[in-house]
Amino acid sequence: MDTSLRDDPVFAAEALDGLRSDPKWIDSKWLYDAEGSAIFEEITQLPEYYPTRTETRILREEVHALQRVLAPGTVLVELGSGASVKTRILLDGADHLAAYVPVDISARFLEETAHGLRQHYPDLDISPVIADFTGDIDLPPALDGAPKTVFFPGSTIGNLPHDTAAAMLGRIRRWNGIGALILGIDLVKDTGTLVRAYDDSAGVTAAFNLNLLKRMNREIGADFDLSAFTHEARWNTAHSRIEMHLVSQDDQVVPVAGADIHFSRGETIHTENSRKYTRDSLAAIARKGGWEIADFLTDPDRLFAVAILEPSGRSPGPGE
Ligand code: AVJ
Repeated sequence: MDTSLRDDPVFAAEALDGLRSDPKWIDSKWLYDAEGSAIFEEITQLPEYYPTRTETRILREEVHALQRVLAPGTVLVELGSGASVKTRILLDGADHLAAYVPVDISARFLEETAHGLRQHYPDLDISPVIADFTGDIDLPPALDGAPKTVFFPGSTIGNLPHDTAAAMLGRIRRWNGIGALILGIDLVKDTGTLVRAYDDSAGVTAAFNLNLLKRMNREIGADFDLSAFTHEARWNTAHSRIEMHLVSQDDQVVPVAGADIHFSRGETIHTENSRKYTRDSLAAIARKGGWEIADFLTDPDRLFAVAILEPSGRSPGPGE
């Protein structure tokens, strides 16, 4: 997703709000401008960053389990969509899908995706939808009656607090024809492996995090000295999440969008949460959204999981 806009008043207001809070924070969605998204692609190739290749491997090895929820006539809806290797594994494994519906907030990205896939799958109906997947998603009315399976890979759900994630799953649960959700989640494991995945030796994740400061300098009239902040990845046991922080190396005052922001030495800006799950913690979130785990596909080292969720008997409660 590309959220970049020059002099974006929403970015300025949100960043300033977070920088005036204690502790300081900025929503992780602002990490993903064109440059941030490109650096994230590099992250997915790093030796320490196991999630992408592990999930890809699980999808490749479990085609049969996936085919069960990709029967002929099914509409495959992908959230935060692809053009990726992962999407193609599903499309290659499926037979006579009614349509593929990539959902993304970036219109430009969606067009590129649709174009690339149409070359490769000329017989497939590809109907992109521009939407923020954390809100309401309006699917093409023509697909209303068709059975649907949602693909939400990459452990992107891990950016969301549990109640927001449950609410999102609850909204999907209410779609007409919804049958299954294929959900990629990163699993709890030893702290060293987790921290290394978010603090790689080549410094790519550090560049990804520091790009947020560059972006504020460029887009909202900030004047961060990039050499006065360092990247830190922390494991938060209580919340079962990796946190990314930018650590101020000194006492300093930084102009941001017309305001002066004070930092003390060692103070941080919290820039991202990446939640890690167990089968049980996922089951609890799923249950709140009206789903149950029908299948839990993992790699031999249990680093990552692809959960297949199906609607539970209970329908989601209000606001879930
Ligand atoms: C895109 C949210 C899935 O949490 O692993 C990777 C983001 N940040 N390295 C993740 C990320 C730093 C990534 N997600």
